Amino acid sequence: MLSQMNSRFSRRDLIGAAAAGAALTGIGKSAFAASPEARARVSANDKLVLGLIGCGGMGASDMRQLMQQPDVEVAALCDVDDARMEGDIAHVERTYNRKPTIYKDYRKMLERKDIDGIIVGTPDNWHALNLIHAVEAGKDAYCEKPISHDIVEARSMANAVKHHNKIVQVGTWQRSNREFVSAIDYVRSGKLGKVVMTKAWRTDPSQVGNHPPQAVPSGFDYDMWVGPAHFTPYVPEYTHGQWRWFYNTGCGMAGDWGVHMIDIVLLGMSKDTDLPMPVEVSAIGGKYAWPTDARTTPDTQIAIMKFKDPDFILQWETGRDHIRKDGSGAEFIADNGKNLMVWRGGWVVRDADGNELPKEEAAPVSDHWRNWVDCVKSREQPRSNLASMAQTTITCHLANVATLAGETVHFDKAKMDIVGKAGRHTSSYSREYRKPWKLPIYHS
Ligand SMILES: NC(=O)c1ccc[n+]([C@@H]2O[C@H](COP(=O)([O-])OP(=O)(O)OC[C@H]3O[C@@H](n4cnc5c(N)ncnc54)[C@H](O)[C@@H]3O)[C@@H](O)[C@H]2O)c1
Repeated sequence: MLSQMNSRFSRRDLIGAAAAGAALTGIGKSAFAASPEARARVSANDKLVLGLIGCGGMGASDMRQLMQQPDVEVAALCDVDDARMEGDIAHVERTYNRKPTIYKDYRKMLERKDIDGIIVGTPDNWHALNLIHAVEAGKDAYCEKPISHDIVEARSMANAVKHHNKIVQVGTWQRSNREFVSAIDYVRSGKLGKVVMTKAWRTDPSQVGNHPPQAVPSGFDYDMWVGPAHFTPYVPEYTHGQWRWFYNTGCGMAGDWGVHMIDIVLLGMSKDTDLPMPVEVSAIGGKYAWPTDARTTPDTQIAIMKFKDPDFILQWETGRDHIRKDGSGAEFIADNGKNLMVWRGGWVVRDADGNELPKEEAAPVSDHWRNWVDCVKSREQPRSNLASMAQTTITCHLANVATLAGETVHFDKAKMDIVGKAGRHTSSYSREYRKPWKLPIYHS
C-alpha cells in the first residue's frame, strides 16, 4: 500500500495533493536528488554521453540505435547479470576502441557527473526507481515502455520528470513511424468522419510452461533483479524476457503491446500529445488458452473503455494467435461506416462497403532515437514524452486493474486517479515495495 511505500504519505494525502495541484515538497525524494553540478546541459555541438541500465534486450537495441548518432557516445553499461553484458561490452569496445565502464548497481553509475543521459532497458518492475533516481541525479533519459509497473508509479514518475525538468523519451517508436504518423494525421483531419468506435489488439502464442526453481548462476545478482517486486525463487524460464507474463514483474500483453497500439488510438483521438483518458473501464481476462501455464497475466483479455469529450469507445483485445491479419493493430470506425486500420507496415482507409479510399502519406520524421537526442539539446519535448506516455500507460494499466478487480473501474484524468473503491486493491494500481526499496512520491 502507498502508506507503506512512504510512511509520510497516505493515499488520501496523495490524491488530495494531486487534486489541488499542490507543489512538490522535498519529502519523499530519494537519496539521488541532484546537486547543482549534476544538472548536465548539453549544447548543440556537444557529445551526449550515455549509460545503459539493462543490457542484452531492448535496452541494448536502443543503445545501438543511439550509437549510430554522431553526437552520442556510450560510456557505461549496467546489468545485474554478467552473462547479459558480454555482447554489449564487445559492441561498445569495437565502436570506440575502448571498454565501457561496467556496473552492477545502477546507483553507482548515476553518481557519475560525466554521464548526461540514461537508457532504461530493465524489466517493468524497475522502471520507476531507475527513472526517478536518474532524473534526481540530473540525467535525461530514454526509458522503455510501459513506463511503469502500476498507476501510482506512473503518476509519480510523470511528476518527478516535470519537477526536475528532464527530457525523457519513452520507447514507443511507432510515434516516429510514417504509417502511424500518416494514419493519426488522417483521423485528426476529420476526413474519416466522427470516430465513435476504436480498437487495438495483439494476438500472441506465448507460453512459459511450468518449471522448477534452480540455483542462481554465479555472476547473477538475482535479488537485485527482483528489486522492489515480491521475492520469488529463481526460475530461469520466468526471468530474462519472460518476466512480462507475470504481474509481479510485468504487465502482461496490455503493458507490452497494448501500450504501443492503444497509444495510436489515443493519439488519433487527440489534438496533440495530451491524450484523452477513459472515464470507465470494464474488462474480462484470464488463462483461457493455456490454463495450466505458470503465467499470471491473461492469455486472453478484452477491455472496453468509455471516453468523454470526445465521446467514443475503445476495445482492447489480446488472445492466442489466429488467422486474423495483421497480428497487431489499431482501428478507427466513424459514424458514417468509414474505417481506418493501421499496423506495423501499412495503413488503409475503406468506405462502409469495404472499398479502399485515397489516402496521403505524411512527411517522414526523424527517427525516434534522433528525436530524443535533438530534444535533449533543444530542451523541447520529444514525441513520446513521459507525461504523454504516462497517460497511455495508465490507460493500459486500467485494463489490468478492471480485469483483476472483476468490476467496472472509474477514472478521473484531472486527478490522474481511480474514482471510488473499485480497483484500488489491485497490484496494477499500486503495490507495497519489497524492503529496502521505496518509491519516491512526487506530487503534481
Ligand atoms: N519499444 C519496444 O518495441 C520494446 C520491445 C521489447 C521490449 N521493450 C521493453 O524493454 C524493456 C526490457 O525488455 P527486454 O525484453 O529487453 O527484457 P530482458 O529481460 O531481455 O532484459 C532486461 C535486462 O535488464 C537487466 N536488469 C534487471 N534488473 C536490473 C537492474 N536492477 N539493474 C540493471 N539491470 C537489470 C536484466 O538482467 C536483463 O539483462 C521492457 O520494459 C520492455 O517492455 C520495448
